[in-house]
Parts: sequence; structure tokens; C-alpha cells
Amino acid sequence: MYDLVIEDGTILSGTSRRVADIAVEGGRIVYIGPRAGGPAKRKVSAIGRFVVPGFIDTHVHFRDPGHPHKEDWGSGSAAAVSGGVTTVCDMPNTNPPTITVEAWHEKAALAEAKSRANFGIWFGGAAGKIDDARRMADEGPACGIKVFMGASTGPLLVDDTTLVELFERTSALMGVHAEDEGVLQRYREHWAGKVPPTHHDARPAEAAVVAVSRLVELTRAHPRRVHVCHVSTAAELAVLDAVRGILPMTTEVSPHHLWLDNQSPLGNLGKVNPPLRPDADRRALWFALGRGLLDTVGSDHAPHTLEEKALPYESAPSGIPGVEMIFPLFLAAVKHGKLPLERVVAMCSESPARIFGFAKKGKVVVGADADLLIFGEPELHKHVAEELLTRVGWSPYLGQKVAPKPDMVFVNGKLVAERGRIVDDAARGALVSPERAA
Ligand code: DOR
Ligand code: ZN
Ligand code: ZN
Repeated sequence: MYDLVIEDGTILSGTSRRVADIAVEGGRIVYIGPRAGGPAKRKVSAIGRFVVPGFIDTHVHFRDPGHPHKEDWGSGSAAAVSGGVTTVCDMPNTNPPTITVEAWHEKAALAEAKSRANFGIWFGGAAGKIDDARRMADEGPACGIKVFMGASTGPLLVDDTTLVELFERTSALMGVHAEDEGVLQRYREHWAGKVPPTHHDARPAEAAVVAVSRLVELTRAHPRRVHVCHVSTAAELAVLDAVRGILPMTTEVSPHHLWLDNQSPLGNLGKVNPPLRPDADRRALWFALGRGLLDTVGSDHAPHTLEEKALPYESAPSGIPGVEMIFPLFLAAVKHGKLPLERVVAMCSESPARIFGFAKKGKVVVGADADLLIFGEPELHKHVAEELLTRVGWSPYLGQKVAPKPDMVFVNGKLVAERGRIVDDAARGALVSPERAA
């Protein structure tokens, strides 16, 4: 007997759509085609609705362990699955930071106990910890090595010497926050004691483009897969477009850089690294997205409380929560004709699975894990705080017209969320690691 049959849904990949039944057993898709037939514990009619692979957000800061007033694996993953994100990859700047084997396993144990979404866990690049990075990311279960080239939330752990060493001695996918510390330092001195007109003036495009250019240089010298996180400027795109298809470099874009700019009246709520950019950069990102030059969407979900954001500019932490807003924002964009739904599936499901080597994720095919979203043609509504599940309870998009969260969200074949609400409080996701060629 099947555990689940989804009937008559319009199943999408990044390049196709077809109407078929999907049968699930033991958390996996076991049949796709006309009339699954046979008994099933649960049958869902998806007639007239879409069925897509669950979204994969490879860039979240759930802050657990260390910051329970902001978020933990329970609340962060509830927000994720409510918004159709069935797999998250958590960043290393927790407390303790995920830069040792012990800290990585400590975080994995927390996620295993509390996460409603499947989870990957980044290993943090740090001076003196290269052997651990090799063990945990090149050979072991970590989803990649995360490197901050400039200080953001948390201390800077990698200087250029360590970065070169990482390129020379490790081979796992490297995810990079590309803002150059030297440039940032120059602007820190320039603005010392003054408040810049916008956060972008304190951390201008120059910091990003210098860092991305250095990454291109290093990738050319020591070829390995580099995923440039949250590309935010036209200048970075120009550098990266020139090597696209030549070097193994891929790109992530964050919703806040597509939907907001440095003139958005958000105050510290819009303080994020890399910063919200001028409108021309924002439009360049949409143009690049339309041409297929941006590979994945990462929310960079960074939950800081409203109290923390109410501090003066210099002390307010940087970061924007957003893991549960990817689906509502992108589906609204589809409705407005800004991009086809297939492109959303490509960027939010298929490409992250391919780039990170999550072989059983990101596609609706026989043998894949049954991480599935069901939803209809969306009716847009005004986004309100009540629909948020992140512990910090705010979003920079309040008042904007967005799509509703998916009708149904399945994680490994289990229904975990319906219309933005958690319906199975006990269901837990599983660790996701890259599958390496034997
Ligand atoms: O704005 C940011 N917030 N950028 C980062 O790089 C880190 C993040 C956080 O962890 O708060
Ligand atoms: Zn970052
Ligand atoms: Zn981040």
C-alpha cells in the first residue's frame, strides 16, 4: 500500500510541466504516471494545482545553538516549511561557531531533534582549522565550507592567507560572503563617528567587486567549486558573467536584494550585509535573473529582534529574516509576469540540489525524496506579521502584495504544513549531505 498518492497535479521541473499522479512510499517517490491505482493511506487531489519539488534554501542563519531569543531549529524550520522550504543549510556563525568537528556535531544533534525541514550544515572556514574543514566537508557530512571575506555578524575568521590555504588544501564546495575586509576597513575609518546616508555607503559595491575579483583569480589558479552568496551589485555580475561557464563558479541571489533598495524606508530593519543597493543594481539583478545568470535563491534568513533593530545604527545587528518569504514573493512575481514558474523551480529547487550534490532532492522523479509542494493559482494579499512563524515576528515586506504560502508541504512524504500552518508537530527532517562520486 502506498503511503501517499497525489492525483492529477500539474508537475513542474525547471523546464517542463505535465499532468500525472505521484505515488510515495517510505518517504520516496515510487511512481509517476497516469492513475497510480492501488490503495493508499492518503489520497490528495491536486487537480488544477501545481506540484513542485520542495524549495532548498542553502543560506539560513537559524542561530541555534546560542541565540534562543532570536530563533532556534524549531521556530526557524517551522517558518521554512510553512513557506515551502523543505531543506535548509545553516551557516556557521552560531555560538559556538561551527568551525570544529565537535561544534558541527553539536549543531547536527540539535537539528536532528528539532528541525521540521531537512537540513544541511555548513562548516566554517577558519585559520588553523583547515584539517577539520577537509575532514568534515571534503570527506564528511558538511554541505560545504563557508567563508566570510569581510567581517559581518561575528568575528572575521579568515584572512587572505587562510583563504589561499583553503583554496590550496580543500576541495568541497566553498560558499563565500564576498565583501573585501580591506575595503570595508577603509570605509569604517572614513565614516568613524558619523552615520552614513545609507548602509550601502558604509559598505559600497567596491567591497563586493574587489572580493569577487579575488575569488575569480583564486578559482582560476586552484579550480574548485565556488558559490558566491548574495550577489547584490551590477559590478559583481559583470565580473562573474565574464567567467560563466569557464570557471566552476555559481551564484546566489537573496530576495531582499531583488525586492528592496537602499532608499526603502526601513531604517535598521533594512540593515543587512551585503547592504541593500541602489535601484540600478536591483534592476540589474532582475535582468540577470531573466537571462539565467543567477543560479540559486538564498534567503540569508538572519533573525534579529525588533528590540535589537531599534538600537542606534552603529549597534543594530545586520540581517533580515526571510526563509518563509521566498515562496510568497516569487509566486507574486510569477503572477506579475516577471518570470515563469519553471524558472522559480529551477532556482529554488533544481539548481541548489545540483550545485550542492543533493542527489535525491530538487526534482519530482521516481527515486527522489518526496519533498513536495502543492498550490493553486495564487490570489495575492497584503502581507501581515500574523502569518510569520519566525520567532522574531517581523519582515521587511509587511504591507506588500504577496502570494499565500503553499496549500500543502510534504517533507520526506509527510504532510508538515498546510496554508502556512504546521499540521504535524512531531515530524522531523533528516540530515542532507552531498553525494560524492565514488
Ligand atoms: O546581514 C547579515 N547578517 N549578513 C551576514 O553576513 C550575516 C548575517 C547574520 O548572521 O546576522
Ligand atoms: Zn553573508
Ligand atoms: Zn548569511
